[in-house]
Formats: sequence, structure tokens, C-alpha cells
Amino acid sequence: MTKIKTAIFGTGFMGRVHTEGVRRLGNVEVAAIAASKQGTAQAFADSLCIERATGDYRELLADPEIQAVHVCTPNALHYPMAKAALEAGKHVLCEKPLAVTSAEGEDLVRIAAEKGLANCTFHNLRYYPQVQNMRRMRESGELGEIYAAQGTYSQDWLLYDTDWNWRIQSDKNGKSRCFADIGTHWCDMLEHVSGMRIQSLCADMQTFHKTRKMPNRSVETFTGKALQPEDYTEVEIDTEDFASMIFKLGDQARGAMTASQISAGRKNRLSIEIYGTKGSVTWDQERPDELWIGQRNTPNLVVVKDPSLLSEKARSYADLPGGHSEGYDDTFKQVFRRFYRTVEDRTAPVEYGTFADGVRQLKILDAVLESSAKQAWVAVK
Ligand SMILES: NC(=O)c1ccc[n+]([C@@H]2O[C@H](COP(=O)([O-])OP(=O)(O)OC[C@H]3O[C@@H](n4cnc5c(N)ncnc54)[C@H](O)[C@@H]3O)[C@@H](O)[C@H]2O)c1
Repeated sequence: MTKIKTAIFGTGFMGRVHTEGVRRLGNVEVAAIAASKQGTAQAFADSLCIERATGDYRELLADPEIQAVHVCTPNALHYPMAKAALEAGKHVLCEKPLAVTSAEGEDLVRIAAEKGLANCTFHNLRYYPQVQNMRRMRESGELGEIYAAQGTYSQDWLLYDTDWNWRIQSDKNGKSRCFADIGTHWCDMLEHVSGMRIQSLCADMQTFHKTRKMPNRSVETFTGKALQPEDYTEVEIDTEDFASMIFKLGDQARGAMTASQISAGRKNRLSIEIYGTKGSVTWDQERPDELWIGQRNTPNLVVVKDPSLLSEKARSYADLPGGHSEGYDDTFKQVFRRFYRTVEDRTAPVEYGTFADGVRQLKILDAVLESSAKQAWVAVK
């Protein structure tokens, strides 16, 4: 059996998790890795036994044996890399946010369609088994008609002005940091689970640290804590630490959410609560195997993930028996499995977020930025 050859662009947090996730499939080989420098790529390749490494991703696009690429680089590189890959005839799986502007994202949707290539925006958090379970409960009518949704995506890794990452710089990240980075995951999950769209919103973004101490040498995500104070330069900040919004969901439902990178103790808390006429569900990424089901007239339930207890359509997102946790990196495997199925068979159903889904989140982001600037309600275009 011939394996599909893929290349991964980026050797940071996501480069590593994507490499590990792809390797769990069995039918796909991570044939090459690209970083911004040859030495970085080679060190990564050596540590994970990857055959080929380069400091210039374009070399890999010229290789006809490579069928697909994963774009796992800072946001501003997503568009040029994904575009070049599509133009070279590669299937593309791109990290979120798909691009820095919705116009760039729309261009990628167009090129992918013209070329007939598989395209995925990596909103992987939808694919926790219990998130799929929430979705199926809503589809089967167990929640009734949805009245309200609320929640947060809160982290603490940028709490101090000594915390640093490329996401802080708008030229590498885009205009929005916190909402683009994690708020988009929350909105993608809400729309996926509820089956409804955020129609309009009123948002407010805040940058608490007007300046931050930039390290004088480069750092990759989540390694900043090791740096010493004498290594910093003070720089002005133009991306937000925190965002909140209220929104109209579908024709009548209402909701509220926050996205934060300055919430001490919250490491990676995506929590989502959906309230319907018959019942409610809430889920928290820091306890991913559990689903809280709220009922008016009978005791509430905490359902622990067990494939035999999941809704039938959610079952294929759980590979392990009850009592055996499935977490963050398992969502990668679930998306990769479905993505590569469509690479192998272009008629297979598309069961993952596409570039069009990535554009949808960029449109919400446009509205959030506009609303916060105007301090007014804005429709999502
Ligand atoms: N889906 C998720 O759960 C999730 C989680 C974290 C990050 N992300 C997304 O993944 C992307 C990467 O984030 P990260 O946390 O891995 O960042 P990171 O800083 O850890 O890694 C970024 C990598 O990009 C590489 N890079 C920079 N310029 C390059 C170039 N020209 N060619 C090749 N490589 C280059 C850097 O060397 C580095 O290895 C971001 O877009 C982010 O939004 C998604």
C-alpha cells in the first residue's frame, strides 16, 4: 500500500502536534518539514526521524511526490503559504485563523475550488466526542428550541507584560490577537453545535498591557517563561488581551461570550453553555470527557464519555472505551483521518471545517473589530 506523502510547514507547537497526529493514521507519511531556517528544520527532522528538512517551503511545493501540506506557521504566513501550495496542486490543511483578512480567505476558497483540491481550516476543537454529542443532541431535538448560549475561551499565558509571542505583533498575527486566536474557536464551536449563525454582535476589545517587554532573541509559543528580564526591549502593543461580545444567534436566540489571554489560572478553558426550551448542555475543554446536562424537572446529569453512551452519530469521534480519556491531540487525529479520506477519494464526504468555514470565522472577526472600534452593534456580513 502506498502512503500519501505530506509536508508540514512550521516546527513549533502545532508543527509537532500535527506531525504526531498524522503519524497516528498509518496511511500518511510526514515526508518533509519546513521551518524559517534550515538548521531549525533539520533539528526538528532529526528529533522526529523525518527524511527531508528545508528552510524554504517552496522547495517542497516543487516536489510532485508531496500531495498535501499542513500550514502551521504564524497567521500572516497562512495566506501566502496556502495560496502557493494550492497553486502547486497540493491539498491544504491550514491552521486557524485561515488568513489575516476575510478577502485573503475568500481568495483561498476560490483557488481551492478552481483547482478541485481538499481544503481544511483547522477548527479541531469541534471534534471532541462530547462536543459532537452536544451537536447530535441538538439535532435530535433533545434541547428543544435554543434560547441562549454563553461561555468563554480563557487562558493565562499572556497575563504578564513579560509574556511574549509572535501573536502579540500585528504584522505577524493580524489586527486581532485574542479573538482571532481563541475567540474564533469558540464561535466555530457554537455555530457547529447550535446549527445557527451569529447574525449580529456588539463587541468590546481591551489591551491591558499598552507596552510589553519583547525578548531580544526569538521564542516559540509557550517557551517565554524561561527568559530573563535583562533580555527584553519595551514595545507598544496594538493587539487585544481580552474581548467580550453579546450576540444575536439565528432569529431569536441571544448569547454572550468572552475571550481572554490574561485570566490567571485558566490554562485553556473553552466553556460553552447552550440553553434550550427542553434542556441545556455545558462542556468545558479542561474536563473534556464530561458533558453536563441540565433539566428542569429531573436531576441534572454529568455524562462521562463512553462510546456506547454517545449519540450514534458522535460515536465515530471516540476511539477508546469508556473511562479512557480522549483529549486535545485526539481531535487532531479525528480531523486528519477525515481530511486524508477526502485526499484519497475526492468523492468522500467532507466531515471537517473547510476554508469556507475559516472565512466564516474571519467575517465574524471583521464584525468584532468593527463593533469594538465603533462601540456599536454590527451585522456579520
Ligand atoms: N488548532 C489549535 O488548537 C491551535 C493551537 C495553537 C496554535 N494554532 C495555530 O497554529 C499556528 C502556529 O502556532 P504555534 O503555536 O505552533 O506557533 P509557534 O510559534 O510555536 O510555531 C510557529 C512556527 O512557524 C515557523 N515559521 C515561521 N516562519 C516560517 C517560514 N517562513 N517557513 C516555515 N516555518 C516558519 C517557526 O519557525 C515556528 O516553528 C498559528 O496560526 C496558530 O493560530 C492552532
